[in-house]
Amino acid sequence: MKMLALYSIKGGVGKTASAVNLAAEACRDGRRVLLWDLDPQAATTFYLRAKPKVRGGVGKLVKGKAALDKVIRNTGVEGLDLLPAAIGSRAMEQLLEDRKPSRLRRMLQPVHDDYDLIILDCPPSLSTLAEQIVSSVDALLVPVIPTTLSQRTLDQLRHYLDDANQDCPVWPFVTLADRRRKLHREIVDDLGEHWPTRLSTTIPNASAIERMGLERAPVNAFAPRCAGSRAYAALWREIAQRLG
Ligand SMILES: Nc1ncnc2c1ncn2[C@@H]1O[C@H](COP(=O)(O)OP(=O)(O)OP(=O)(O)O)[C@@H](O)[C@H]1O
Ligand SMILES: [Mg+2]
Repeated sequence: MKMLALYSIKGGVGKTASAVNLAAEACRDGRRVLLWDLDPQAATTFYLRAKPKVRGGVGKLVKGKAALDKVIRNTGVEGLDLLPAAIGSRAMEQLLEDRKPSRLRRMLQPVHDDYDLIILDCPPSLSTLAEQIVSSVDALLVPVIPTTLSQRTLDQLRHYLDDANQDCPVWPFVTLADRRRKLHREIVDDLGEHWPTRLSTTIPNASAIERMGLERAPVNAFAPRCAGSRAYAALWREIAQRLG
């Protein structure tokens, strides 16, 4: 079982859109996927038409007592299950404080054999939860939007990981890109120079991806041939190759 997180310190960079679309592509590829919505805003849960409630509360989950199959939901996407956003992130963070590393991975132990891939959709912050995330996953997928500020947050993330002594692989990729703009092209090139581990697929700024909120489905479910959908398929192929 592999575990990936869509992670960035910055908000609104396409973490949730990418988590949902990559999960859907992995399913199309025959993988059994669990998407864990760790963001109390519950956008992933909304996109996949699940109710954002964890029966018994997140406390039971952290203590490992709840049967996970009671809280995991099916989605409209074949092969894709969802662990919905639990109660507020503060409760989650409090419960995770002073816990040993890799707690998130160990919390999922009971369903270890049921999934090939677990994808975490993370809230935009550096917090206790972040420590748990980086110590649990096989790689951080970091969406970078083509602005200089967004690139700086990538450097901040690198410093954070260095300070925390974490060697979790970081795989940035560019999203919300507009190839016609010079600044965008320069930033894409610059990322290639400074981040050899970057994923080379660029996700375009695409209106179909924006429509996910209306359709409440991954983009390949309602616009499979659009540029955004094809880009996520290519990005997934790149990731799958790295995961082996
Ligand atoms: N490739 C894209 N093309 C067009 N719109 C996009 C694209 N990716 C994301 N969006 C839109 O940008 C907004 C932010 O995206 P998203 O919610 O995925 O970001 P996020 O990083 O998860 O945000 P947050 O930090 O608040 O959780 C949403 O309205 C989404 O529909
Ligand atoms: Mg989000």
